[in-house]
Amino acid sequence: MNEHKNPKIICSQCHDVISETKDGDCPKCGGKPNVIYDFRNSDEYLIREVPKVLEQRKINKLNGLVHGLDSLVINTEIDLHQSAVTELCETTGSIWYLDSINQDFHLSMLQTNEKNPKLDYSPKILIQSRLRPQNPFYGFNLNKKTRDLPNTRIETFNFRCSNLDKYFEIQNERGITFMTENIQEYDNFSYIQTAPSHYIGCSYGFIQWHGKEGDYSLNNANTHRPDYKKPNKNYLDNIKYVDHTATRIRARDRDAGILEFLELTNYTFDFAIYALDLNSITSVARYSPDDFAMVFTSGITPFIGSESTGPTERYTFNYGTRVHHIAFHTEEITETYSKLKEDGMEFLIELLGGENDGLHQTFTKQSPNTMTVNEYIHRYGDFKGFFTRSNVRDLTKSTYKQ
Ligand SMILES: [Fe+2]
Repeated sequence: MNEHKNPKIICSQCHDVISETKDGDCPKCGGKPNVIYDFRNSDEYLIREVPKVLEQRKINKLNGLVHGLDSLVINTEIDLHQSAVTELCETTGSIWYLDSINQDFHLSMLQTNEKNPKLDYSPKILIQSRLRPQNPFYGFNLNKKTRDLPNTRIETFNFRCSNLDKYFEIQNERGITFMTENIQEYDNFSYIQTAPSHYIGCSYGFIQWHGKEGDYSLNNANTHRPDYKKPNKNYLDNIKYVDHTATRIRARDRDAGILEFLELTNYTFDFAIYALDLNSITSVARYSPDDFAMVFTSGITPFIGSESTGPTERYTFNYGTRVHHIAFHTEEITETYSKLKEDGMEFLIELLGGENDGLHQTFTKQSPNTMTVNEYIHRYGDFKGFFTRSNVRDLTKSTYKQ
């Protein structure tokens, strides 16, 4: 919930929205911020702050330690775990590769069916459910339209790390809070993850493989290769690796959320596109032109009421901050879209764009098992955008239906 009823200004020090200053100081953090500016997102603050974060990353010797996305963790309710796995296998090219159950977690690993040809790995999808009641993400899930599934969200972005000991030592020294006191050791990998981010309600995990790469078997677990056959639908092979995810973030948290992400990874801010009349900004962070792209969508101004605030702020009011969609690179997208539709898949919007626009794309309705939308996307040539000028309004507006 946005507790700021009449937000006017944001403190550049604590990034909180305040209605008035106290003798020029921020009444929330008590500090003396350098700037207190009218609260309306613009790139002025971000463009000034990003080089400082990148410089600090260099000084802290963090550059080169964190690489691309290794996996996404989708947590579900226990009773919806199996449906979530099956649904992803039936609506993407993913293959259910591994099932691992110990006393704390049930983890199913799904491998997308083909790597990005320009990379030597592609993000896996991990469906997880907790077998014990404690859930550190629980508080992020108690929103108007999410409280019935209080354990369901995309919880963690796991990035590949080439020296986890060093990374952990540096970030620990910087005061980053991690979920565990020490790096966790598994048969095939070492792992640490941050506490959930206040800004995006997700955690960032860091994984260093030292055994069989891609084998996410848990400790003290019953692990096996599932005996599951994908439906015999050839068109699913057209749906391949994860291109990007888009996280809906509250307007007031946009700058801080992006800067936090840059501080924890080796990504950098790429660009932002404003849809002024929909009160929406799409901001993009990248590691390389070919890697998974991290997209944040926020309002320009904060939530002011369900009818007049625009679809993006309305979404975070109803659902809280969370990942809205996972976009899958899709070949033969026109035919694939038709076949999915024939087989009963429901969409928020028809297939938009075309070769001349640089991309084709569409959104499914949100999954009842994961609350996530699938985007199917096909890029033509070297188009690196996430929508075209002609369809940005329709795509953004389609989330009004959620
Ligand atoms: Fe997208």
